[in-house]
Amino acid sequence: MARVVVTGKIPSGGLERLKAEHEVTAWEKDDAISRAELLTMVAGADAIVSLLTEKIDDKLLDSAGPQLKSVSNVAVGYNNIDVPACEKRGVLVTNTPGVLTEATADIAMSLILMATRRLGEGERVIRAQEPWQWGMFYMLGMGLQGRQLGIVGMGQIGIATARRAKAFGMNIAYTRRSPLEDNVVKELDAKYMSMDELIESSDVLSLHCPYSPATHHLMSENQFARMKKTAFLINTARGPIVHEQALVDALKSGQIAGAGLDVFENEPAVNPGLLELDNAVLIPHLGSATVETRAAMADIAATNALAILAGAQAPNLVTS
Ligand code: DGY
Repeated sequence: MARVVVTGKIPSGGLERLKAEHEVTAWEKDDAISRAELLTMVAGADAIVSLLTEKIDDKLLDSAGPQLKSVSNVAVGYNNIDVPACEKRGVLVTNTPGVLTEATADIAMSLILMATRRLGEGERVIRAQEPWQWGMFYMLGMGLQGRQLGIVGMGQIGIATARRAKAFGMNIAYTRRSPLEDNVVKELDAKYMSMDELIESSDVLSLHCPYSPATHHLMSENQFARMKKTAFLINTARGPIVHEQALVDALKSGQIAGAGLDVFENEPAVNPGLLELDNAVLIPHLGSATVETRAAMADIAATNALAILAGAQAPNLVTS
């Protein structure tokens, strides 16, 4: 029996599978575990099942000890884990790709609709019981039909978002490092562009790339300055891909028309400047937040950890 530490609450299916085979210590409170408690809890762990709110770095790996074999993140993104530090110690790192693609694309499409049709703003008017009346020029938004959706990072979630947007009549353009499969290009009639071209020509720019030092502040003052003044930025990837203060300035000055954000640079903190802006739709990192998706994520993380502990080929292994 190995010692498995689960750093936050996860759905019972995944947890029970771990418990059936190993001695499991799980953080069971609703609030996220404190750093100090986490460092104590991981001592002696053979496997850690981590949430994206927990930083897995050198200090934590030292606290865990040399017997640690794996860190299984219950997320597709793994920027909370110092992968090279894990690799140096022979600790395998896994994530949960695939199962949250559709849920996250649903949220990206929701944000596109909310931002372009001013739905947050409209709801605030009703809830505040402000006077309003139907009018030919009242709260007009931007129609999506014939507009260009620019996808930054055309992976599984980017493609799933593009499929939705195409059904709404948008034209799809994208940028990505490796060529996109021909059948997907054909299905979506998707046009490859350089990042610069995409920024300059898109009506909605949606971020779907992983966060890494290379994508830190990918969207900053210079990029906003090159976007159309009528364009919208959507971020369901990771907050620090966007320079949040530069975004506030761009939204305030009318440099761009609006934004829809599911993630924030210093999550859970949100730049106070964003809170004052009617043209920013803000939701609290809900991309994968469906009952079904979270259950599937926990299940895959358990599968990953169990396979490594059993000495089998690690599924969903990530490398630096
Ligand atoms: C992920 O899995 O990376 C998502 O951000 C979780 O919602």
